[in-house]
Amino acid sequence: MQISQIYTLHTLCTPNLYCKAYTKLAASGRLVLRRWRRLAMAQQNTQLWNGSNELDVATAARALRDGQLVAFPTETVYGLGADATNEAAVSAIFAAKGRPADNPLIVHVADARAIDKLARTPLSTPARRLAHTLWPGALTLVIPLSDDSNLAGAVTAGLRTVGVRVPRHPVAAALLAAADVPVAAPSANMSGRPSATTAAHVLADLDRRIAGVLDGGIAAYAVGVESTVVDVTCDDRFVVLRPGAIGRRTIADVARVPVIDATADVAIDAPRAPGIKYRHYAPNAPLRVVPRSQLAKQLHDELKSGGIIGLLADTQTCAQFADHQRINAIGCGTRGDPHSMAQTLYAALRAFDSHQVRLILAVALDDATDGVPAAVMNRLRKAATGGQVELDTSLKTLHRTDQ
Ligand code: TXA
Ligand code: MG
Repeated sequence: MQISQIYTLHTLCTPNLYCKAYTKLAASGRLVLRRWRRLAMAQQNTQLWNGSNELDVATAARALRDGQLVAFPTETVYGLGADATNEAAVSAIFAAKGRPADNPLIVHVADARAIDKLARTPLSTPARRLAHTLWPGALTLVIPLSDDSNLAGAVTAGLRTVGVRVPRHPVAAALLAAADVPVAAPSANMSGRPSATTAAHVLADLDRRIAGVLDGGIAAYAVGVESTVVDVTCDDRFVVLRPGAIGRRTIADVARVPVIDATADVAIDAPRAPGIKYRHYAPNAPLRVVPRSQLAKQLHDELKSGGIIGLLADTQTCAQFADHQRINAIGCGTRGDPHSMAQTLYAALRAFDSHQVRLILAVALDDATDGVPAAVMNRLRKAATGGQVELDTSLKTLHRTDQ
């Protein structure tokens, strides 16, 4: 694809046509011309709506039904929503985010009964147990897709499965109930960037590209990292495709079937969430995850090469370096409390972008084998491998890098 062809596409097409053409081209893996894509996006006045105001929620729901893009808070991260049955609206999500077309979207519904219309067969008993016990919540179930579903093809990227989630956040729940359509929603960030956990993060990435943002403030029970994605298409063995706050052990206990974490064990030949192969969560500066025991040495070595070094760690660790002129420490949670780290992780990663740091050293969490610590480590590893610097070699044996 030549720049001149993209330009022609941009000048000749309406935004919707452009979105469709763009989706096709992106699928071929040849399209990386952000500048032109930005030019081609229809510029909009993005509205900021108040998520606790019923009228604003109704306005946002109407915008969704009219085929527009609306960002909304969930208990994990903000989602960028579109009516999942509207082809043009779903294509517009991919164009607004610059998302590769082969990465399917999660469909958000107001309650578990909506799943019957989407699933090819009734959910198995173990999968029902998950839905019954853990929804609403930070859990996405990948189920076989019904041939009669009226979902837009782009939602599932051509797969015969669909990821479904019932979010817990009251603003998300109110919006879904008012919109009364299934809502396809990836995280509301530009593709590859850290996810958004505030309305301000959404606007930093997507202002003028979307119809509006419902501001949900910061929920007290916010998780901060995306939902656990679990494939329940096979009745007697479930597979975690993306770790989240709801861990493998909890899923196995509730479902009463064995659960494999496809992101933790190299030996397993399991299906993967298509999205996990892409660059994700990355701040502008390269990031390296280091074991706590090596932090002092690595800081010392890196400082010798000049520039300002970013440090991402719990607030207590950061406090030790507060007076150092060439270390920019951004605190993220309290030591020993991985939940607090998850809640502030993306805000901290984004905060580094306003500082001139040459490299970010992120302190690895201890005991990150399941649940929130595993989810945080997964995001840090992805942020590291998406940047120019890989994991510290001593961590390679502990944590895989190809997710
Ligand atoms: O917490 C969340 O899940 C947030 C909020 C907004 O709900 N959403 C989110 O969406 O993180 P997104 O698009 O950023 O990530 C969805 C992940 C991707 O890795 C995608 O590949 C995977 O889910 N996924 C979606 N549908 C799938 C399917 N049918 N089979 C396998 N993986 C799927
Ligand atoms: Mg995402």
